[in-house]
Amino acid sequence: MTESVAAAVDHVDLADPRVFADPDHHRYFRHLRDHDPLHWNPAGVEPGFWSVTRYEDCAAVQKDSVTFSSAGTNVLGQQRWTGDEGSGRMLTHTDGERHTELRRIVNQSFTPRAVAGLEPYLRSVIGQSLDQALEEGEVDFVDTVALLPVASIAALLGVPQEDWPLLLKLTSAAFGSADQEVQTSPNARVSAAVAHSQLLLYCQDLMEQRRASPRDDILTRLGEAQRSGQLSEEGAMLFLDLLLLGGNETTRHGAVGALLALIEFPQQWQLLRADRRLLNSAVAEVLRYVSPSKHVLRRAERDIELHGRRISAGQDVAVWHFSANRDERAFTDPNVFDIERKPNAHLALGSGPHYCLGASLATLELAVYLDELCNKVASAAVAAPPALLATSVISGFKNLRVRLRSA
Ligand code: HEM
Repeated sequence: MTESVAAAVDHVDLADPRVFADPDHHRYFRHLRDHDPLHWNPAGVEPGFWSVTRYEDCAAVQKDSVTFSSAGTNVLGQQRWTGDEGSGRMLTHTDGERHTELRRIVNQSFTPRAVAGLEPYLRSVIGQSLDQALEEGEVDFVDTVALLPVASIAALLGVPQEDWPLLLKLTSAAFGSADQEVQTSPNARVSAAVAHSQLLLYCQDLMEQRRASPRDDILTRLGEAQRSGQLSEEGAMLFLDLLLLGGNETTRHGAVGALLALIEFPQQWQLLRADRRLLNSAVAEVLRYVSPSKHVLRRAERDIELHGRRISAGQDVAVWHFSANRDERAFTDPNVFDIERKPNAHLALGSGPHYCLGASLATLELAVYLDELCNKVASAAVAAPPALLATSVISGFKNLRVRLRSA
């Protein structure tokens, strides 16, 4: 590692979203893995925090939820000092028994068996989006794949199909972009707040309807949990927020990143087109290589030593699993996209008690998407240099203009 990266790391503030708009931001993390595996990020745009960047440390911190709590908040950002409304109440922001209790309310809707039934819908949704993109020739692929995650979660929630476009419109406006530029624009913030209220009112309305005629869907489960006192009305709304948000941008940017990886490694695309038995390992490799979620945050509950340094009780620790997924100690040639990689125990979906609840859904969505992409698209070319999202939360692009050639 060069001196210049070492010098730059001393000044870079990993809480600053703009760092991640730099296409070469992986270099900081490579340096930290090699030279400063427990790194203190001094106060900058946020109060100071520790960073772990190696695979082994990221997995260990996430698994030990007794020492490293999620109850405050689970990502870097303003909510660290202004307070997070989900603290101690939302699934991602609870530990121990309360966390298990909350997870149990919706668990059944996310089993591999429960989501398997969605496959035909998902195939038709992504198939139509790809057909339209092929017809147009050149498209922004971030838009092309937008409906897939929304349709998936809408189906599980129990939102009628005719309302999926409305849900897409409202979720895009409410949670739209994780990009810093958008998040700090006052106009964008107001429109987002309005769309967010409309979205929750819409879901509340459907929950009311389910009370009269229950179905096997998440809205019915949340309504029942509310009636039995397991959830407050606000708790049910926080749950909805989490489900609508958690599976949206992550899967969307996973699909976009997958296309870019296949463009960069065309022999891997041809391999997958020739042998679909590789779909599952291709999905795992997409998750590892793209790592749509960059980090999670934990708070130390007690003093603990790591790499000869002391994390004190009350200090925050950022777990950079996107760095863990490129750790040379855990993966051979980590910067190579290899759909036959074995083993591939990536951390893209987290680890430990908060392991992604939507993991089966996310992997099904990506498998169906890759399969349809191989069926319909022979190759693609980037039409304009893509701009990365300025955020430490999601690995993704503001836009990705591509030209698709049909199979
Ligand atoms: C490629 C897509 C996805 C990625 C990369 C991803 C990543 C993650 C990660 C890293 C966590 C751990 C958070 C933590 O430890 O604090 C997580 C948790 C979670 N994910 Fe996903 N996710 C994806 C798709 C989905 C989908 C489709 C859903 C469905 C709604 C979903 C719902 C959730 C929920 C509810 C949690 C919280 C689990 C808990 O706290 O117990 N995710 N996800």
